[in-house]
Amino acid sequence: MKGLILSGGKGTRLRPLTYTNAKQLIPVANKPVLVRVIEAIRDAGVNEIGIVIGETGPQIKEVIGDGSKWGVRIAYIPQESPDGLAHAVKISRDFLGDERFVMFLGDNVIEGGIGQLISDFAHNDWNSQIVLKEVENPSSYGVAKLRADGSIEQLIEKPKNPPSNLALVGIYMFDHHIWEAVNSISPSWRGEYEITDAIQWLINAGHRVYPHVHKGWWVDTGKATDMLEANSLVLEELTPSIAPNAVIENSQIDRRVTVEAGARIINSTVRGPTIIGENTVIENSYVGPFTSIYYNVTVQNCEIERSIVLEHSSLSDLGARLQDSLIGRHATVHRSEGKPMALKINIGDHSSLWVV
Ligand code: DAU
Repeated sequence: MKGLILSGGKGTRLRPLTYTNAKQLIPVANKPVLVRVIEAIRDAGVNEIGIVIGETGPQIKEVIGDGSKWGVRIAYIPQESPDGLAHAVKISRDFLGDERFVMFLGDNVIEGGIGQLISDFAHNDWNSQIVLKEVENPSSYGVAKLRADGSIEQLIEKPKNPPSNLALVGIYMFDHHIWEAVNSISPSWRGEYEITDAIQWLINAGHRVYPHVHKGWWVDTGKATDMLEANSLVLEELTPSIAPNAVIENSQIDRRVTVEAGARIINSTVRGPTIIGENTVIENSYVGPFTSIYYNVTVQNCEIERSIVLEHSSLSDLGARLQDSLIGRHATVHRSEGKPMALKINIGDHSSLWVV
C-alpha cells in the first residue's frame, strides 16, 4: 500500500501565520502537523508516500526533504491550483498506479494512529474505507448520513442543514475504483472537485465503502483555536523528558514538562503538560500548562498559559498573563517603559489582538 498526503491549499483561516509558511508546518507540541501525519502513516507500515504540494511546496520540501529522516521515501506531486481534494487525488495517478492507498489530509491530527484502520482495509474486500467522528458543528465538515444497517446513504460537503453529526475525518482508503470516480464528477458549487462527491459516486455505482467511526479525539487544524486544542491534546500524550544538556537553575519544573536540548530555564516555574524547545531561554517567568514554546525563543518576566510560541520569537515584561495565544515566528512582544504610555502595535494583515 502507498500513502498520499494532501498538503497544498492556501490555509487562509490561519493567517497571518500562513502568509509566510505552510499551515501543515505549524507545530503542535513542537512537531509540525505534517511530520505527525508522516509518522502515523509510517507507523502503520507504509513507507512510500506522495505529498501533494501547492504554493508552499518549497517550504515543505525544505523541511521534509526525501523523508529519510523519518525512514520513508517521499515523492512530491505539484498541484497547480487548489482545485479540491478529488483533484489532488486525480493528479496523483502516476505515483499511485493501481495499488490500494491511504490518503491523509496534511492538517489533521488524530489520536491513536491508523495501524488498525490500514490492517482492516488490507484484510477486507471493501473498495474504500472512510473515517467518521461525531462532532458538535457538522456544518464545518463533510457529513455522512447512515442507513439503519450502518451503511452510508449520503455524503454532503459542509451542509447548511446537516443530516447527522458524523463528520468525515481527513483519512480515506481507496482501491483502483477511485480513478473512475474522480474522473466522473464535476466541480461543486464552490468550484472544487470534492472527495465527498467521488465517494458518493463509488456508493451509487454499487462499490463497497465501509464507514469506521473513530472513538478517540480528532482535530482539523484549520483555525488558531483548533491549533491550541490540538496542542493541548498532543501535549497530554507526550512522554516527558529533560535533555541532558538542558540547564535548569533555581526553577520549579513539574514532571509533565519536556525540555529540549540546549534550553535554559532560570528562576522560573514551568507547569506541565508543556514543552520548551531547543535553545530557548525562560527567565523569571511562569509557563504552562498546555504551552509549547518552540526553538530559539526568549521569554523574560512573563506569564504564559495554554499558548503556542513559534521559533525565534522574543517576549518580555508583559504586564498581563498571555493566554490562549498563538505567536508567530520572529515576533517580538515587549512592554514599553517610555512615555507616552500607549500601545504600540506593528501587526500583520489578518492578525487578531485582544487588549486588556
Ligand atoms: O478535515 C476534514 C475535512 O477536510 C472533511 O470533513 C471535509 O469533507 C474535506 O473536504 C476537508 O475539508 P477542509 O475544508 O478542512 O479542507 P481543506 O481545504 O482545509 O484541505 C484539507 C487539506 O488538503 C489541507 O492540508 C490542504 C490540502 N489540499 C486542499 C485542497 C482544496 C490540497 O492539497 N489541495 C486542494 O486542492
